[in-house]
Amino acid sequence: MRDIAHRSDPNRKAPMSQSRDHWSSNAGLVLAATGSAIGLGNLWKFPFITWENEGGAFVLVYLICIAAVGLPIMMAELLIGRRSQKSAVGALKDAVASKWPAGRKLGGLVGGWGVLAGFILLSYYTVIAGWSLYYFAQSVGWTFGGFPADLSPGELFDAQVGNAGLQLALSLSFSIGTIAVVYFGVSKGIERIARIFLPILFGILLLMLFSALSMSGAGEALAFIFRPNFAELGRDAVLEALGHSFFTLSLGMGAMITYGSYISRKHSVVKASGAIVALDTIIALVATVIMFSVIFSVAGMRDEVGGSTVGMLFISLPELFYTEVPFGVVLGPLFYVLVALAALTSTISLLEVVSAYLIDERGLTRHKATIGAGAAIFVFTIFAALSFTGTPILSTMEVFDGKAGWFSTADHFVSNWMLPTGGFFITLAAGWFMTREATKSELVDGTEPGWFKYGAWRFFIRWVAPIAVAAIIYFVILGVDFS
Ligand code: PHE
Repeated sequence: MRDIAHRSDPNRKAPMSQSRDHWSSNAGLVLAATGSAIGLGNLWKFPFITWENEGGAFVLVYLICIAAVGLPIMMAELLIGRRSQKSAVGALKDAVASKWPAGRKLGGLVGGWGVLAGFILLSYYTVIAGWSLYYFAQSVGWTFGGFPADLSPGELFDAQVGNAGLQLALSLSFSIGTIAVVYFGVSKGIERIARIFLPILFGILLLMLFSALSMSGAGEALAFIFRPNFAELGRDAVLEALGHSFFTLSLGMGAMITYGSYISRKHSVVKASGAIVALDTIIALVATVIMFSVIFSVAGMRDEVGGSTVGMLFISLPELFYTEVPFGVVLGPLFYVLVALAALTSTISLLEVVSAYLIDERGLTRHKATIGAGAAIFVFTIFAALSFTGTPILSTMEVFDGKAGWFSTADHFVSNWMLPTGGFFITLAAGWFMTREATKSELVDGTEPGWFKYGAWRFFIRWVAPIAVAAIIYFVILGVDFS
């Protein structure tokens, strides 16, 4: 699977295993990586930050960030992985050592930083993913038993997150689901699940889109999202768009490096990157159109929603499905299936980052690595789950200003500090530490599409992306918040 150039590279250590599992096809890679990218970021975070930043101009800036920073880094991560055929730590060691042999250690540290980010991110992401299971069960009940007239969705939500036993059960179920997929490996576990779940996810979204577009608020929603008004756009909105492009594309922590390491030489990094980035972006926009069409169709809803991200997904929407949305009794439960599937294909990529590190660098078997990593991460999931239940310290600790509790602290640390700093070093590794020949042979290999220009990619990865990411880090140090 590896080319001649690799074998002649003196800095390249022999791979630990000759029989590395690979994606079975380009479609398999694209589906698995798109599954990682599409997640709570698309359904939970993007609609909310679009709302907060008044739509239009923010969406346009977001699209520019995705194209100018997200896409080049996506290619960089996939190529770093494909070239070395090792997961984040080993791949970044090889990448940095390609020009600077003494820098292996530094590359390894950056990879380790990514693995740590994956560990922490997975630990709290699972908690929100678990909520989708609860709302799925509830909505099935409402579909068959009717939505109770006296139910307050806000109180239901508070009771749900405040119930420690329930929270632990939900997150444990989700963690077990994640471990069960990763346990079976790349082609038989991750790819197989992505092949089944992503088409279902697209299908559900399409059904919901038809329903939403038939609602009276659809026109207003589309105008809000797509008609730019630059007067609304501040510096923080630009930074938020940039920061979110990392999160939503699963960049900055080695997830895409790890997935890239399972790409065989027959498959194109460039085409796959284009497809993953396009699909992730389309899904984020479709989800936003759906949610806003519903919200704009209901008198008074506009003002109610303002509160929080959580509010939109788990408080406003459940009731609206049963009172406003055409075919809502069917779409309600399906919507929470959608959230759960989107979250699961992301959590498996996070667990894969940690497991692949243990397999490639520590020599563990896949089974031991997934169960061991999954169990260790779950300990921290417990902390995150108990952050909402009024638990001493876990619910109140305040490391970062205004971020009370373990959950918010972890989210703030990963989104604001870990992903941008990791992403910054990854751009340097691909743009400055890897030789031109190395990156060129990965990207220009006869499989790349006609629109791709190597020189343009190199310019973006050496200059545009690192400067943009450095700007995020600079403003984070000054106290701007992306989480
Ligand atoms: N991209 C995922 C989302 O949008 C989150 C994620 C980040 C997954 C980093 C893996 C790695 O929800």
